[in-house]
Amino acid sequence: MVKRVLVYVVVWLLACLYLTRVAESSDRCKAWLVQSIPTDMPELPRISGVLSTGDVFQWLANNSTRSLDIIAQYWQLLANPKDPRSGDFGYSDSDLQRFGANLGALVYKSIDNAANRNVSIRLLSHSGVYPDYTKEPSDLAYGRSNVKNVTLLLSKWWGSGIVHAKVWISDDRDVYIGSANNDWKSLSQVKEVGIYLSGCSRMAREIKTYFDNLWRLASLDASTHTRSVSDQQWLINRTVPCWSHFLPTKARCRSPLPSYIDTPNVSPGYPSLSDPEMFRTDIETLPRNRSCPEPQPSYLSFAPPELLFGKHQSDEQGWIDTIKSVVEGGTVRINTMDWLGQSQYTNPKVYWSTFSSAVSEVVFSKNAKVKIIVAYWGHFIEATDGYLRSLLYSNILCSSSSSVQNKCFGQVEIRYYMVPGFNKTGPAVINGTKTGNSYPAYTRVNHGKYAVSDVRAHIGTSNLVWDYFFVTSGVSFGTYNTKFVLKLQEIFDADWNSPYVVPVQEFGQDV
Ligand SMILES: *[C@@H]1O[C@H](CO)[C@@H](O)[C@H](O)[C@H]1NC(C)=O
Ligand SMILES: *[C@@H]1O[C@H](CO)[C@@H](O)[C@H](O)[C@H]1NC(C)=O
Ligand SMILES: *[C@@H]1O[C@H](CO)[C@@H](O)[C@H](O)[C@H]1NC(C)=O
Ligand SMILES: *[C@@H]1O[C@H](CO)[C@@H](O)[C@H](O)[C@H]1NC(C)=O
Ligand SMILES: *[C@@H]1O[C@H](CO)[C@@H](O)[C@H](O)[C@H]1NC(C)=O
Ligand SMILES: *[C@@H]1O[C@H](CO)[C@@H](O)[C@H](O)[C@H]1NC(C)=O
Ligand SMILES: *[C@@H]1O[C@H](CO)[C@@H](O)[C@H](O)[C@H]1NC(C)=O
Ligand SMILES: *[C@@H]1O[C@H](CO)[C@@H](O)[C@H](O)[C@H]1NC(C)=O
Repeated sequence: MVKRVLVYVVVWLLACLYLTRVAESSDRCKAWLVQSIPTDMPELPRISGVLSTGDVFQWLANNSTRSLDIIAQYWQLLANPKDPRSGDFGYSDSDLQRFGANLGALVYKSIDNAANRNVSIRLLSHSGVYPDYTKEPSDLAYGRSNVKNVTLLLSKWWGSGIVHAKVWISDDRDVYIGSANNDWKSLSQVKEVGIYLSGCSRMAREIKTYFDNLWRLASLDASTHTRSVSDQQWLINRTVPCWSHFLPTKARCRSPLPSYIDTPNVSPGYPSLSDPEMFRTDIETLPRNRSCPEPQPSYLSFAPPELLFGKHQSDEQGWIDTIKSVVEGGTVRINTMDWLGQSQYTNPKVYWSTFSSAVSEVVFSKNAKVKIIVAYWGHFIEATDGYLRSLLYSNILCSSSSSVQNKCFGQVEIRYYMVPGFNKTGPAVINGTKTGNSYPAYTRVNHGKYAVSDVRAHIGTSNLVWDYFFVTSGVSFGTYNTKFVLKLQEIFDADWNSPYVVPVQEFGQDV
């Protein structure tokens, strides 16, 4: 008996050693969670082993030797307190220093340095935002043949929507995916969550394919490559690329993109994949765990579905599968800036119950506890409150379901996140008059977008609103890596238990 145990232990140790060697000799793919925490939040506990966005952006640029590819919605790495049109207007140098604006300048400088090292740089963005638009990427590209900047208007392709993904790829091996914009405020005045993958060439290559597809789109003529469709899934007429699966098979063109899904007979739309691609790469997380590595799969997901390729999940499916991965009686944690059960920018509007249905489903069938944090800030969408309250109504349905069947123990709990100072944001001066604002415009907001169950973590770039999944570009990374799952739960719990959240009132209870 003792002998058999001994043999077993030896075999196990050998297998373990072998696996460790394989994992280390191949890629040494490492992953860290990355956060930005706004200044003046003293009561938020810091989580160990989590990197800061400002550092990671600089590393990605500093360490690049061959290539740097960046997808951004817009660029405002350099503060603009002298421009009366800017949300930074009127703040003094010492205010800006207190706000941490120098971090943005350091990131800008690190890209400028990479450009001077003759690194091949591609900058892809939406047309940018008022008042700078594409000034920064354009300045970086000016007079340099190794730096290219393009803008891509997705509304020409999908009728509405923007480039909203926030992705950095350095030397085809190091990657950032997350909620942080290329904005100084995203480094020190907005709460962000992302992931830094280092030495992960396989995943980086796939993300680069997505980048290449967007890059190609920017050089194509949308007017000859789009069609109107009577969309049978969302019940509206809208514009889509001519290779869209929302079009009947016969009406579709061949995709002009370098990589795309080649399954011609699906209609309408993009059904869930039953076997999406999983990366078996063992991810090393910090602090390094020297025990036997068990490969825990990771995945990528992308939006909009017309830009899918290979066997990757649509971004919507990536999120939904994460919610549904919760174990019986387990907990799902969801963090988002915006939440709507409909479209926000698309005309005509779309009703979209995908997320709220998934939440109610796990409350009922898995007796799950679902905790959701939604941002309450200067640009809060009023309609959100109604959708959140209707989701809370699941609790009443859950309790009353016991009169029909066995007892339902699931529960939804939702809290608004209020970063202190959220209602004192905007320029310091407007038309020569002091406003009394304490922080620049579009700051003091919980901007991260992620979900984590007991077994699976999902980190994205999209708000939880229909448009982001069907007409706007988004990228997510997800994983079953245990340490990662626990770390992301820790980040969520620090917020959930902080003094910066307040419960969303249950339906009818606040009268
Ligand atoms: C990036 O490189 C610059 C120039 O070498 C250096 O000053 C800066 O500290 C580096 N950033 C980080 C985060 O290491
Ligand atoms: C990138 O550079 C930073 C310092 O600038 C260093 O700490 C980090 O380990 C480097 N990352 C990689 C993947 O080489
Ligand atoms: C910059 O890189 C390109 C291609 O990577 C190369 O052709 C060119 O000679 C390089 N220029 C300098 C000044 O090193
Ligand atoms: C960068 O892109 C913008 C928008 O397409 C364009 O107006 C500008 O000329 C470009 N700048 C350079 C230096 O290529
Ligand atoms: C969509 O357009 C078709 C004609 O192309 C029209 O028959 C239909 O009523 C429209 N549907 C909606 C929902 O507007
Ligand atoms: C290392 O990983 C193993 C298995 O996942 C776990 O049981 C152990 O607690 C971890 N050790 C540390 C120090 O995190
Ligand atoms: C800002 O929010 C705080 C906290 O909810 C509240 O006490 C204060 O009255 C608000 N101020 C304004 C101007 O809305
Ligand atoms: C500032 O003044 C201009 C011209 O008097 C006016 O059009 C504008 O609305 C004012 N802006 C604000 C924010 O009050």
